[in-house]
Parts: sequence; structure tokens; C-alpha cells
Amino acid sequence: MDAFDFDRYDRIRPIRWTGEALELLDQRTLPFEVKHLRYEDSDGVAEAIRQLVVRGAPAIGIAAAWGVVLAARRVEAADGAQAAVALEPAMQRLNAARPTAVNLAWALARMRRALQGAGADWRGVLEREAQAIAEEDLAANRRMGALGAALIEPGSGVLTHCNTGSLATAGFGTALGVIRAGVAQGRIERVYAGETRPWLQGARLTVWELQQDGIAPVLIADAAASHLMKTGAVRWVIVGADRICANGDTANKIGTYQLAIAARHHGVRFMVVAPSSTVDMHTPDGDAIHIEERDAAELFSLGGVRTAAERVGAWNPVFDVTPHTLIDAIVTERGVIERPDEAAMRAAFGG
Ligand code: MRU
Repeated sequence: MDAFDFDRYDRIRPIRWTGEALELLDQRTLPFEVKHLRYEDSDGVAEAIRQLVVRGAPAIGIAAAWGVVLAARRVEAADGAQAAVALEPAMQRLNAARPTAVNLAWALARMRRALQGAGADWRGVLEREAQAIAEEDLAANRRMGALGAALIEPGSGVLTHCNTGSLATAGFGTALGVIRAGVAQGRIERVYAGETRPWLQGARLTVWELQQDGIAPVLIADAAASHLMKTGAVRWVIVGADRICANGDTANKIGTYQLAIAARHHGVRFMVVAPSSTVDMHTPDGDAIHIEERDAAELFSLGGVRTAAERVGAWNPVFDVTPHTLIDAIVTERGVIERPDEAAMRAAFGG
């Protein structure tokens, strides 16, 4: 990966700190309209996370960290200890924006920790911490790109789900970072992207992102995945994660679990790529994860056009849990865990 041209493959930035405000690339209107929205207060950032203006586990953590920096403008405190008390309500509101991705709580915990022992310059401390969270995420993604791509045999086809790219992170992406690196190295010949209904992160965001890099993905309906695997066209399913538990069970976008089942059935390998900020050693297994359920109305229409019959009820869980027994490799910036289980997770992450 030494010769990898990151600037060629890594140009999209969903989160921009101007020094005065937070600018978020509005992911609700991509790829048809590319516009940034500006936020000057933390409650606005919490709402942007809730409304999916910014989405993807690492990205919502980074946005929340900047939300704390914005909240800091509105409180008076002599030092970090006082500031921590004054900022707690805003942090709680940011934390409540979405429940499943642990990166949100992880980033807020880092901001709280940074305040411990901070003096009169506590606002500067918070700003530097938010910057560090973003820079570390980008570095982790680049490292995971190298580690994950090394697992893939030259000439492979791969299938991905949802959007795990620059749009979902500080840049480069997790699973999509592995795919970028794998394509650049000639290991990946063809990329299949699932639509990812109902919000179409795959059809709208992943396809658009890869096209920016000159990579032409093949879009499939989510329901075509098992059939695709049966044809022998893919060797790996490569996905991101919103929370990885102490036993390796992994929450990710709804539909991931059925991909893992189908992959095992067809002898296709299954790779989860996520930074260590997504690992939650305090959650023992997937049953303990709070799965977000969003408004049923998301299932009633596509692109603003009603597609469901009137007067129907709906259930809209937006994540599911893949048991660790169906995962062949978890890739974090700390290394690769093959056939993850509790012992392997504890060896890598302690706790
Ligand atoms: O609802 P979303 O779009 O925030 O869900 C995103 C995912 O499920 C991603 O796969 C996950 O956050 C990893 S992003 C690097």
C-alpha cells in the first residue's frame, strides 16, 4: 500500500469544520443535489444526525464531537470540570440522536475525558480533541484498507452493502476503503453494491462515491444477493459495522444478517471492517444491542412517490445483528481477527 495514491481515491469529505461552524454534506439529497448545510449549535447537529444529513457510524461520532465544540460556545465555565457539568445536557441530547452505532457514545466519552484536568483553555482542548478524533479515523481507515485488501485474492468479485465510504467516515471509508485499496491493487475486479432499501445508501451513496474514483460498481436489488452468490461471481461480502460486541457479534445496516447467512451457504467469505471505535467490549453479545427502528413512513414511498398500498402498517428496523459464527474476518486498524469469538476479541481489545 506504500505507493497507494490516497488523494486520487479519497476526495469526498462529509464533515467540514470551518473554525466557526460545522458544515455537513447533506446525504439526503445525494447524488442529485450536492449541498452543504451549516450548523452553529449542538442541537442542530443532533437533529442532523437524527435526520441522516450525516450518517454512518464513524461520521456521526465525529459530527457529535464537533457538536460539543459548538455547545461549548454557549456555556460559561472556568475550567474543564465546570465545563463538563455545563455541557452534559447537550452531550446527552447528541447521544440520544441515534441508538445503535456505538461511535456516537464513544466520541462523546472522549470529549468528556478530554475535559478532565483541562484549565482555562478547555474550549481549545475540546476543539483539538474533535480534530484528533477525525484525523485518527482517517488514519484507521487507510490502515484497514491495506489490511483488508491483503485478504482478497487477485481477480475477485465482491459485494458490499449500505455505504461505508468517505461519506460514512472522516474519509476513505471502512469496507469501501478495503474495496478502494483492493481495486487499486488489482485484487478486486468487480464490485457489486446492494441498493440498501429503504434509504438507498447503496444505490445513491456508494455508487456515487465509487464513480468519483473511476470505479464502476454493478448495482443489484437487495433481493438478488443470494442468486448473485450462487453464480460464483463474488468471493467476499465486505461490510462495515455500527457496533461490534465482546463476542464478535456485529450490528450493521438491515439486510447484513441475511447476506451473512447466504454467504455461508454459498461458501462466500464475510468480512467486517470497522475502526476500534466501533468495538464495544461492554456489550456482551448481539442480543444486548439496541436496534434503531425508524418511522414506518420510510417504507411507504421511494423518492417522495408513494409505492405502498394505502392503510398498511409497517415495521422498520434499520439495523440487524450478524452472529460472530457467520463472520470470517473482522478488520480493525489494530489488525485482522479471523473467525472472531470472545477469546479472540478479548485478546485484541482487552476488557
Ligand atoms: O443508517 P446509516 O446509514 O447510518 O447506517 C450505516 C451503516 O449501517 C454502515 O454500514 C455503518 O455505519 C458503517 S459506516 C463505515
